[in-house]
Amino acid sequence: MIGNDRKIEKNLDSSMIGLRPGLEGVPVAQSSICDIDGLQGKLTYRGYPISELALQSSFLETTYLLIWGDLPSPSQLRDFEKEVQMHRRISFRVRDMMKCFPASGHPMDALQSSAASLGLFYSRRAIDDPKYVYDAVVRLIAKIPTMVAAFQLIRKGQDPIQPRDDLAYSANFLYMLTEREPDPLAARIFDRCLILHAEHSLNASTFSARVTASTLTDPYAVVASAVGTLAGPLHGGANEDVIKMLEKIGKPEHAITYLNDAISNKRKVMGFGHREYRVKDPRASILQDLAEELFARFGKDEMYDVAKALEKAAEHKLGSKGIYPNVDFYSGLVYRKLGIPRDLYTPVFAISRVAGWLAHWREQLGANRIFRPSQIYTGIQNRQWIPAEERSSAKSF
Ligand code: COA
Repeated sequence: MIGNDRKIEKNLDSSMIGLRPGLEGVPVAQSSICDIDGLQGKLTYRGYPISELALQSSFLETTYLLIWGDLPSPSQLRDFEKEVQMHRRISFRVRDMMKCFPASGHPMDALQSSAASLGLFYSRRAIDDPKYVYDAVVRLIAKIPTMVAAFQLIRKGQDPIQPRDDLAYSANFLYMLTEREPDPLAARIFDRCLILHAEHSLNASTFSARVTASTLTDPYAVVASAVGTLAGPLHGGANEDVIKMLEKIGKPEHAITYLNDAISNKRKVMGFGHREYRVKDPRASILQDLAEELFARFGKDEMYDVAKALEKAAEHKLGSKGIYPNVDFYSGLVYRKLGIPRDLYTPVFAISRVAGWLAHWREQLGANRIFRPSQIYTGIQNRQWIPAEERSSAKSF
């Protein structure tokens, strides 16, 4: 068959398979990392229910489980925690690079650039060497929180502070961010938030990670591409927008008017809806409990009543379409109570989701084939070249 005929045949194949916008319902990988039952509202990591992990596990233990498939023994966990602790510091070169970022820039953009810069420091690309893989996992899990905290202080005009070896992972992050040693309850609740956000099958950023991984590039590029994808308001960026929305609503009694207006103007209600769930996201229920735990100890956030009023109103208006609160609806309220600035909610999501991205990176490499989907071409064929002087203005950009 000559080249052109083969091309035409391939295009015909694509149109026979049919276009699935957003790849809805199209499996693109076999995975044993995470399972979602969107009708029952069930989520498991490596077979363990999320509710149990969020109660019993720690973020680093869950990370180990996600990436290597089984819960670690006590000595494996100790070694992993120790390695992560030893690699928390970032080079002065990375800090100096971050000082050149505009203070007004979004912290997700700063994180994407800083994560990508790690590839400059650890450029050996030996993805079939288990030691290289282990070291890359440790570095990314260890350094991403330090980068998020560093940018926060740098943009305020301060020097970043060093990690503290006597503090566990989550407590240390809150310390580096706020310059105060956190209350143990606050640190534990933050750690539980990280567990809840660590993995969620083939969401957009994880798909992005797998596509990047499939080219056999380095894991820093894999994580950087996923950070960029997570930043969008339809994905991880929604947690920030939820708080903006609640503040705009202002009072519980205004929730119904806001909702009706959004629905009639076809505006999305942030923190609602999910491609996989037709019921309330199980993570949203746990995050709501965590928010209540924090409020009971440190005082209530008035926006919580607005959120509950909106959820109640939406149950009648959107529930019939299977649209309920997702993970981003209550997480912002938890982060706000923990004193985390609003534009850091999505970077905090990234700190956690790096565990899932790396689990998928390893899994992708285990049975790799480069992602290269097809398309259905809808453009013009067989155009005649027009010399510049004979052209009229193009219609639009
Ligand atoms: N508010 C109001 N209506 C919503 C909605 C929301 N948050 N989410 C979905 N819908 C409606 C759509 O308007 C559409 O209605 P229609 O069929 O009458 O046109 C229908 O539900 C399907 O929506 P669609 O955007 O095609 O679903 P999707 O599976 O492609 O998108 C999300 C999933 C998460 C992107 C979508 O629910 C959304 O944009 N949510 C808000 C942003 C958000 O919270 N993102 C975080 C996800 S964890």
